[in-house]
Amino acid sequence: MTFKPAPWPRHLRSQEWFGGNGRDQIYHRGWMKNQGFPHDMFDGRPVIGILNTWSELTPCNAHLNVLAEFVKRGVYEAGGFPVEVPVFSASESAFRPTAMMFRNLAAMAVEEQMRGQPMDGCVLLVGCDKTTPSLLMAAASTDLPSIIVTGGPMLNGYFKGERVGSGTHLWKFSEAVKAGEMSQEEFAEAEASMSRSAGSCNTMGTASTMASMAEALGMALSGNAAIPAVDSRRRVMAQMSGRRIVQMVKDDLKPSDVLKKEAFENAIRTNAAIGGSTNAVIHLLAIAGRVGVDLTLDDWDRCGREVPTIVNLMPSGKYLMEEFFYAGGLPVVIKRLGEAGLLHKDALTVSGQTAWEQVKDVTNHNEDVILPADKALAKSGGVVVLKGNLAPKGAVLKPSAASPQLMVHRGRAVVFEDIDDYKAKINDEALDIDETCVMVLKNCGPKGYPGMAEVGNMGLPPKVLRKGITDMVRISDARMSGTAYGTVCLHTSPEAAAGGPLAVVQNGDFIELDVPNRRLHLDISEAELAERLAAWKPLHPQYDSGYAWLHQQHVQGADTGADLDFLKGCRGAPVGRDSH
Ligand code: FES
Repeated sequence: MTFKPAPWPRHLRSQEWFGGNGRDQIYHRGWMKNQGFPHDMFDGRPVIGILNTWSELTPCNAHLNVLAEFVKRGVYEAGGFPVEVPVFSASESAFRPTAMMFRNLAAMAVEEQMRGQPMDGCVLLVGCDKTTPSLLMAAASTDLPSIIVTGGPMLNGYFKGERVGSGTHLWKFSEAVKAGEMSQEEFAEAEASMSRSAGSCNTMGTASTMASMAEALGMALSGNAAIPAVDSRRRVMAQMSGRRIVQMVKDDLKPSDVLKKEAFENAIRTNAAIGGSTNAVIHLLAIAGRVGVDLTLDDWDRCGREVPTIVNLMPSGKYLMEEFFYAGGLPVVIKRLGEAGLLHKDALTVSGQTAWEQVKDVTNHNEDVILPADKALAKSGGVVVLKGNLAPKGAVLKPSAASPQLMVHRGRAVVFEDIDDYKAKINDEALDIDETCVMVLKNCGPKGYPGMAEVGNMGLPPKVLRKGITDMVRISDARMSGTAYGTVCLHTSPEAAAGGPLAVVQNGDFIELDVPNRRLHLDISEAELAERLAAWKPLHPQYDSGYAWLHQQHVQGADTGADLDFLKGCRGAPVGRDSH
């Protein structure tokens, strides 16, 4: 892509607040001077907002205040004026009912912070799952020059000499406890072993996936995604990004220059190659909606089909992010896509270089971590998009985390009307279920939960686990943690709470899953389906006030990214009025 830098010097939007000697400008400068900034800091140099999702209740981001200092170094070195600004931090591990309900609220809040305050460019300091997409959505809607710096993953976890991965082993160990194979004391010890340093989940879960998506989209400097949180090179990355954003402001290099359809296709293929989280589907659709790129679920299936999963990381494989970094990290994967003809090589990135220029000379240092194509974990690693009378607008499945023997399966439905119904019944020995059944969970979508929780990878019933069975076909309108695994059909659209066919599945119905033919079918007649849908009544929690109400009224389906309808699109960052 050809990009022509804007002329420099020129008038910046921050000068509307700080430049000149009008009453408003004196007022704004005067207040800032109470922090000890000298007068020449307001002379027209780029003001860089360091938007920091630091929070002690977002443990994955709890070290970002340290990284912010390194971003500041870089901004000062390049002649900018850094201002650190705390922003909404949607913690994956602590927010109820689910962090996903707050992704859009965070995006809305950050967008207004960017637009309403004197910033010429932004460094987005993120890490935990929802913090990365929410700030990217905000940046796409304001179109202010922006660069992502993620906090980086935690170091490897080890328990009894074996690698243990965030989330992935939590699911495994909790099933082992249910099956009577692990004690509660061992579980507590394993839990501590999993989280032994600052940083985000160390598996290729949603945080690592979204860091990789930011890099593959071209919104972070090359190599950003995999550097461990506590590695000194993470600080160097922060400093370099601080330097770079100043030049991006001078050049007027904006998100809309980078976030083209080609960038999204590069990211989708990268997701397939890394065995990334299904959550990336929803987040990329939402980001595309903000920047006006026509991206659909079908693009996910089309672009991912031809890409093998070559990154041998949990939950699909065996290693963790620390080893991915030592092997060369994401630049090696992007280079491999380029060599295979699967990369839009000339896609522009925030570095000013193209996607190809910045990876063409990198080396793979470990072929057991980044595998040769003939040893791929899945030949066709892309997220599969299923359609049929059970999912007219689509459902997704991650083949690299699923069981090959279940890819074509017909089974009797065992239905849970909502998450409470599931919790009440799943451990009941009298539940009429065996491993050939299909578990169906309703009312866990964007509107229904509300917020589309990560409950789609329902744990199996103990009586099935005791037989040594670890996977069954599961279908829901929920999401699944990027650290999870299984033959799990997710994001079924329209969701049950919106009256989609999922809402009318009954115990004893038969369901057909056919991954090769992309089919998800409820085996009842059209007339029967129509009759049931006509008789359907909503069964999800209803709110009449507060943000939950706003969310339920305006959230869109998972098939288009589950954004709020009135937040779609780019609104820019015009300088508004001021009066005191
Ligand atoms: Fe925050 Fe996994 S819970 S990165």
